[in-house]
Amino acid sequence: MGTSEAVLPSLSTAVPHLSHSKPCLNSLNSMLHLKSDINSRRKRALGYMRLLNCSRMLRNCRRVYSIQGIDGFSHGKTKISRLESVSCKGQQAESVSGITAEDGHGTIIAPKIKEFEMVEPMRHEKGGFASNGKFAAGGTINDTLGKASIDSIEDEAWNLLRESIVFYCGNPIGTIAANDPSNSSSLNYDQVFIRDFIPSGIAFLLKGEYDIVRSFILHTLQLQSWEKTMDCHSPGQGLMPASFKVRTVPLDGDDSATEDVLDPDFGEAAIGRVAPVDSGLWWIILLRAYGKCSGDLSVQERFDVQTGIKMILKLCLSDGFDMFPTLLVTDGSCMIDRRMGIHGHPLEIQALFYSALLCAREMLAPEDGSSDLIRALNNRVVALSFHIREYYWIDMRKLNEIYRYKTEEYSYDAVNKFNIYPDQIPPWLVEWMPSKGGYLIGNLQPAHMDFRFFSLGNLWSIVSSLATTDQSHAMLDLIEAKWSELVADMPFKICYPAFEGQEWRITTGSDPKNTPWSYHNGGSWPTLLWQLTVACIKMNRPEIAEKAVKIAEKRISRDKWPEYYDTKQGRFIGKQARLFQTWSIAGYLVSKLLLANPDAANILVNREDSDLVSAFSSMLSANPRRKRDWKGLKQKFIV
Ligand code: GLC
Repeated sequence: MGTSEAVLPSLSTAVPHLSHSKPCLNSLNSMLHLKSDINSRRKRALGYMRLLNCSRMLRNCRRVYSIQGIDGFSHGKTKISRLESVSCKGQQAESVSGITAEDGHGTIIAPKIKEFEMVEPMRHEKGGFASNGKFAAGGTINDTLGKASIDSIEDEAWNLLRESIVFYCGNPIGTIAANDPSNSSSLNYDQVFIRDFIPSGIAFLLKGEYDIVRSFILHTLQLQSWEKTMDCHSPGQGLMPASFKVRTVPLDGDDSATEDVLDPDFGEAAIGRVAPVDSGLWWIILLRAYGKCSGDLSVQERFDVQTGIKMILKLCLSDGFDMFPTLLVTDGSCMIDRRMGIHGHPLEIQALFYSALLCAREMLAPEDGSSDLIRALNNRVVALSFHIREYYWIDMRKLNEIYRYKTEEYSYDAVNKFNIYPDQIPPWLVEWMPSKGGYLIGNLQPAHMDFRFFSLGNLWSIVSSLATTDQSHAMLDLIEAKWSELVADMPFKICYPAFEGQEWRITTGSDPKNTPWSYHNGGSWPTLLWQLTVACIKMNRPEIAEKAVKIAEKRISRDKWPEYYDTKQGRFIGKQARLFQTWSIAGYLVSKLLLANPDAANILVNREDSDLVSAFSSMLSANPRRKRDWKGLKQKFIV
């Protein structure tokens, strides 16, 4: 590892040659450190600024700090300001002082100050001991002991959640994905995942513990600033990492001291190199929840935070080749972060996207520079909700309509716009679709409907009002009607049904982790309890979530809080599931807290606004199922 002083001058002097240079700078294994050297911070930041234009072309010059403005929606001062406002002085999690480059992985480093020694999360005693020292025996609840043991499950969950806290410069910054003492191979489960932290963050917010959430928001914002590359290619600038790790490394030139390092993974190390599209969307959703719950709007009003929001939006709203208003992504870009046939326009991403758009609209400060962005946002909100409500919705009536579709319609007013061949309707669905109820399909592409039921996408479409009120109730009707398949012995199936046989081989690439009814391929994930709970509370049907929580309580603590369950009924702890999976623990706690105080769900819910309803109805009246109004068109082209 080279010292910062050794690396930086060589970076600066290299600058003039870099902007058009072809060869990669092998020596630029630069790790970005945030250190306590305030005086040198600006100077070094400027050094990085000059590097900006070349960084994308450098092999091994990874995560070089980038100071580009976000054209069109902001300006070039962005990154400098963020540097100045975020520093780590040991005591303030949102403060980072100083920047140096060190060893090659674009890592933020802060010096460890003696009194803030890293606090190692305590290992959880096998067997689930609660704070009162008693064994928390989930699954042994009976009438007399029921209340006491449920309390002890909650106590145990709180203890475990606190034990999962990760510290940076002595301050809580997030929670580790899993704290499983029985599994020696941690892979990346010892990292703080953005998506996994959301239920942890909500649990802390609902408990009135705001600091960890504030710190998480501000530090992950720092990570958004780094340029990241995979084989010389950089993804878009607003990308948030999938996860990050806090490392403790020796301090430069001082063997007796260490410093904390934030080391993000944007997908360039992740299995399959998947892009974490959902991270930024969840970040926006959590930011709004933080403001609503704590009443502290100063975080969302900060210049650097406003810029962070805009960068995410800009990345999502930028023009591409798309014909649809839905966000086009590769496979594995969300909770399902492996190949599962969800490339294209998966519902989960669309629901989070919609929710993030609405949350961002509430938080963006009105200013001249953002009017284009806000216009683009508003247009997208309307188009996206129309598209999903119209084309993703399926129930008995719609299924019958598809069954009778004509195909190969070349015209503006085609009914079967996406040229769906009725033979695509899978046999299981003909049996499965209840007469009362419906859902949003998993994905829609030209000539392709993915009819699988994906839970998170459907639940978050309710929470965000992406689905209409009627559709939202119909989804909950379907969940009730299909309880024995979607909940069974452990809530909640990630998707239904599983791919089997040849379909599994082709779709997953014979992934041994995603075998039928396991993991992402029809496994049951306790963490989904919290999204189910928010959706049920929003629709004023909390009893559905209460029933699911009771089922989970029978086993979840006894089974040591697994990541997921296998089999059609969710009867087995998942073959490769981690134990003491933090978002299983936090998801349960959020459900309990919200069921006890349903009004608090408002920090996550988006209500449909009246502007959208009127825009939607005018779009409906222009629905091409009706005759296209040629008179209104100025230009007519047929190619
Ligand atoms: C698995 C899940 C992913 C989660 C990660 C950490 O990869 O699919 O959604 O974020 O584990 O828990």
